[in-house]
Amino acid sequence: MLLEVRDLHVEFHTRDGVAQAVNGVNYSVEAGQTLAVLGESGSGKSVTAQAIMGILDMPPGRISGGEIIFKDRDLLKLKAEERRRIRGQEMAMIFQDALSSLNPVLSVGDQLGEMFVVHRGMSRSDARAKAVELMDRVRIPAARERVGDYPHQFSGGMRQRIMIAMAMALEPSLIIADEPTTALDVTVQAQVMDLLAELQRELNMGLILITHDLGVVADVADKIAVMYAGRIVETSPVHDIYRAPAHPYTKGLLRSIPRLDQKGQELYAIKGLPPNLLHIPPGCAFHPRCPMARPVCRTDEPPLYTVDENRRSACHFWKETLDAR
Ligand SMILES: Nc1ncnc2c1ncn2[C@@H]1O[C@H](COP(=O)(O)OP(=O)(O)OP(=O)(O)O)[C@@H](O)[C@H]1O
Ligand code: SF4
Ligand SMILES: [Mg+2]
Repeated sequence: MLLEVRDLHVEFHTRDGVAQAVNGVNYSVEAGQTLAVLGESGSGKSVTAQAIMGILDMPPGRISGGEIIFKDRDLLKLKAEERRRIRGQEMAMIFQDALSSLNPVLSVGDQLGEMFVVHRGMSRSDARAKAVELMDRVRIPAARERVGDYPHQFSGGMRQRIMIAMAMALEPSLIIADEPTTALDVTVQAQVMDLLAELQRELNMGLILITHDLGVVADVADKIAVMYAGRIVETSPVHDIYRAPAHPYTKGLLRSIPRLDQKGQELYAIKGLPPNLLHIPPGCAFHPRCPMARPVCRTDEPPLYTVDENRRSACHFWKETLDAR
């Protein structure tokens, strides 16, 4: 296993109290595999990713429990210097907003080249050639002419390609892409996602793809982890989950995807709002919104039940949920 997150807990100490952002997350990614992480806003997807990358804001954040096993080492036990090295060379992250992640006062060629100067000890001119090669690889037209341009001179989609190039530059074994296409328009989204998926296959990288978009997931992911209130509520191979979700929350998410064959019909929405993380409901955190909730759901927190060899669901009534599709 390339990466295994075990029972991870992250809390934020705020003026109003302690926000339980991540409450026992378990997920894993193998080399060459894509794990999609889904869930509404505030469910802890990015915070989990930041903990893996070692870029969590601490304070106010605090990792209060768990392990992050990456290539047989627990990242949480390593020294800061070793984590920095891993972050530069073995894992990389792609963010939603390239413009704020790239340095506005350095040309893209300098930023890409810098990776090779710092981490590979290359000369400036060799690093420049590498930068052009990378820009070509992410299919930026006229890479050689544009290598001296600044981030703001590129379109949103091209900037996102540059960020992908930065992330891949040192051929890391793991990439975490946090909503990598959300800020782009729909046609460009698909192109950028295809590029990412293609490079991931070529380099046999593990990819964690964080997204709201269940449509994107079906095409690129091998498996899915669904998060709710800082917990994993369902994990499954991608095809099984579309065929038959084993958790009412997943079911609600799937029903809220717009479908071409149902144009004009009102879109389903899960009723209510995600919980306040300062006061997560007892029992199953989803119970106030769950159409299947029963009294036991208000008192007993569901463990991650084993649905089959590859599937888990944190619902007391996962069997009924599966059957009631
Ligand atoms: N710097 C911070 N200070 C205080 N609380 C924070 C901080 N960062 C995150 N949180 C808390 O952690 C919760 C989970 O945040 P996270 O960014 O992981 O959500 P997400 O699932 O990525 O949502 P989105 O889909 O909107 O990106 C937030 O609702 C917030 O309460
Ligand atoms: S445990 Fe109960 S409240 Fe939670 S998802 Fe299952 S049925 Fe709904
Ligand atoms: Mg996020």
